[in-house]
Amino acid sequence: MKNEFILVPPSEAYASEIAAYRQEFLAAGDSMDGCGSLRRIEDPIEYIERSQAMTRKETVPEGLVQATQFLYVRSSDCRVVGMIQVRHYFNEYLEKYAGHIGYSVRPSERRQGYAKAMLRAALPFCKEIGLDRVLISCIDGNIGSEKTILSCGGVYESTVYLESEDVYLKRFWITLQ
Ligand SMILES: CC(C)(COP(=O)(O)OP(=O)(O)OC[C@H]1O[C@@H](n2cnc3c(N)ncnc32)[C@H](O)[C@@H]1OP(=O)(O)O)[C@@H](O)C(=O)NCCC(=O)NCCS
Repeated sequence: MKNEFILVPPSEAYASEIAAYRQEFLAAGDSMDGCGSLRRIEDPIEYIERSQAMTRKETVPEGLVQATQFLYVRSSDCRVVGMIQVRHYFNEYLEKYAGHIGYSVRPSERRQGYAKAMLRAALPFCKEIGLDRVLISCIDGNIGSEKTILSCGGVYESTVYLESEDVYLKRFWITLQ
């Protein structure tokens, strides 16, 4: 039977899955992209509350922009296989470097097409919140992420240097249908 997946906001029902997701990234020493403050916040309940606060302009912590966090959940076993975050508008940093969307797939679930499917599934939400096109960037050399963006219609625009992390970022735009 074909696996089915849903995009859902972080909630208490997924608290243990969120903790396991975080743990897997820490153990792998991998980059927790598209997870908001998950690296910093150990307690999943606190993380859920923080994610909820981020979704409303009135409750976004100062200096951050409104953002919606999704878990990408496999219905058959309720496993969180990926996470994706949509930022509703830009600040200076997002406009130049990080873009509208960040995402990750947990290390044990990679190379199964999940990133491509998750990004594709998140695009209608971007349209719903009023975006006509989205900027996504990835580190030059992150082949998996670049292929993910291209599979969803990403068009390369430019490469920028992010001095604080000493990396080159490739910027792509996806026009929303
Ligand atoms: C990048 C990442 C999201 C890819 O997730 P994934 O579920 O393994 O990706 P998919 O299975 O959907 O693969 C997408 C494409 O990239 C390819 N790919 C994935 N990982 C790859 C790798 N490490 N090396 C080369 N190609 C890779 C796949 O073969 C597939 O190619 P195809 O379209 O030709 O079939 C995942 O590796 C990850 O979470 N990395 C850490 C966080 C990160 O880099 N996030 C992106 C920030 S911009």
